Amino acid sequence: MAREFGSVGVVGLGTMGAGIVEVFARSGLSVTAVEISDAALHRGESTMRGSLDRAVAKGKLSAEGRDALLERVTFAVGLDALGDVDLVIEAVPEHLDLKQRIFAELDKVCKPEAILATNTSSLSVTEISVATGRPNQVIGMHFFNPAPIMKLVEVVRTVVTSQDVVTDIEALCERLGKVDVTITDRAGFIANALLFGYLNQAVSMVEAKYATREDIDAAMKLGCGLPMGPLALMDLIGLDTAYEILDTMYRRGGRDRRHAPVPLIKQMVTAGLLGRKSGRGFYTYEKPGSPVVVADELTPSSTAEHGRPTNIAKVGVVGSGTMATGIIEVFAKAGFEVVSVTRGAEKSAKVCERLKTSLNKGVVRGKLTEQDRDAAIGRVTWSASLDHLSDVDLVVEAVVEELSVKKALFASLDEICKPGVVLATTTSSLPVIECAVAAERPADVVGLHFFNPAPVMGLVEVVRTIRTSDATVQTAAAVCRALAKHAVVCADRSGFVVNALLFPYLNDAVKMVEASYSTADDIDYAMKLGCGYPMGPFELLDVVGLDVSLAIQRELYLELREPGFAPAPLLEHLVTAGYLGRKVSRGFRDYSKR
Ligand SMILES: NC(=O)c1ccc[n+]([C@@H]2O[C@H](COP(=O)([O-])OP(=O)(O)OC[C@H]3O[C@@H](n4cnc5c(N)ncnc54)[C@H](O)[C@@H]3O)[C@@H](O)[C@H]2O)c1
Repeated sequence: MAREFGSVGVVGLGTMGAGIVEVFARSGLSVTAVEISDAALHRGESTMRGSLDRAVAKGKLSAEGRDALLERVTFAVGLDALGDVDLVIEAVPEHLDLKQRIFAELDKVCKPEAILATNTSSLSVTEISVATGRPNQVIGMHFFNPAPIMKLVEVVRTVVTSQDVVTDIEALCERLGKVDVTITDRAGFIANALLFGYLNQAVSMVEAKYATREDIDAAMKLGCGLPMGPLALMDLIGLDTAYEILDTMYRRGGRDRRHAPVPLIKQMVTAGLLGRKSGRGFYTYEKPGSPVVVADELTPSSTAEHGRPTNIAKVGVVGSGTMATGIIEVFAKAGFEVVSVTRGAEKSAKVCERLKTSLNKGVVRGKLTEQDRDAAIGRVTWSASLDHLSDVDLVVEAVVEELSVKKALFASLDEICKPGVVLATTTSSLPVIECAVAAERPADVVGLHFFNPAPVMGLVEVVRTIRTSDATVQTAAAVCRALAKHAVVCADRSGFVVNALLFPYLNDAVKMVEASYSTADDIDYAMKLGCGYPMGPFELLDVVGLDVSLAIQRELYLELREPGFAPAPLLEHLVTAGYLGRKVSRGFRDYSKR
């Protein structure tokens, strides 16, 4: 017979524990919340009350609901208070010896039939379970931060967890309104195994001054639609917790260097910069525990120039593909004169047609007036000769992604364009410096990496090479502002910010399926419901195209020689088999029957 869970205990009321208490109490269970000392108990209780008060203020919970919920919670110091509960969730710091000690004590204190669960993110549930005399009743219940909001729970079964325990915990997750994914005991389970390499890599970008914290976070939010950037997420998780998770994953997960915690994390932890909970981490917060970011010495000055760049009126766009067409539209709508150069009148006619179709859609959707549409079209002149770029102030090239073609183009631009013109490439994967030296005016060459579809996506990566001048970068950033795009400035390394952080994560997801640890469906669920991603990795791979993804991953691997970046063999095989994603109706999923 299935167990009835009437009362639960939660051990540790930190970042996770306080939220987990709220989850259970909201579902009508009585909760005994336990801490190590009066001070810690008081802190945990205030965190929980703060969260409930915010829910009331936002109208998500009534004041009576909050009071009734608090009545179901008993706060206590010490594990002795847990003698009668049916289930315990442990959420103390991520240290194996501490968790083992707590489980050994829980085994003594709790009634024999009680289930003991750990919220560990990376430690071995099996190793924790053997500290008790009931390892078959020990299970992982991995909640996500913030627990009251994130829908996912990873249920971790060990080789000795009883099936009835797994079934009852899965049923409990449903009662809590959560979606569970049941998996075996492997470092980082699904979500953290895919998330923490990415977070660590983002920290290494900050450490190397590759881009600023604001730019890295903005890039991932605007470029991938993530709910928060990686550095803000590190602050939410807590840098001490993140350090322990990375360290454990490195040791348990095959010593992948990408999980070796970046030294900056340890330095920040030692300095007490733990993230939101201590009031300062990568960002500075109003007060400890507050989500409100305040300005500090690293905040970019608001006196940064605004408004249109005075030196750019006429822009050349070279190319006739999707990106070129979108970029023409973006510039023309923003009031720039545009010279479109393609390889022939026929191609120009097609680009013009696509531009009109897109602008017409804007009119139909009420985003553009007919006058604005006509004015935008009127600003574009069409040409099949680069010679017409002799009087433009900026050139953006979006021709085929082949280095030899781009280099030849930049050499021609060097001969044709007037001095001081900004020459930009939209390459996603080639080194911008190659274009810069081909142009023989490297100070004026910059990357302007637009995202597809350019009229919709709000991000542009401004890529500065080691030879790009400050003035060129400033002009490029000002142009982006005039286009109402958010510019993030980064160095000239494979994948810039977004692709460098995104594709290794996608590749890791493929490796996880390849290793039969989980399924594409469960991994997609885990990332959407556990981390708030708009799409799961397999949905995204099918949209981007497996061939495109493989090419980018290969570039990253070849440039950085990071063993963990080697493309997943399964990805290579699918591409070889012609399963390229949605564009051919088959990728990781088969779309032909949908
Ligand atoms: N932070 C996250 O985003 C996140 C997400 C999912 C899972 N986790 C996991 O949850 C667990 C807790 O992490 P956290 O971030 O909430 O840590 P935290 O440091 O914010 O909180 C830990 C709490 O445990 C208390 N504690 C320590 N020893 C105790 C004892 N002997 N008895 C009772 N309470 C004790 C501490 O006083 C503290 O309040 C870890 O295993 C972590 O890996 C964390």
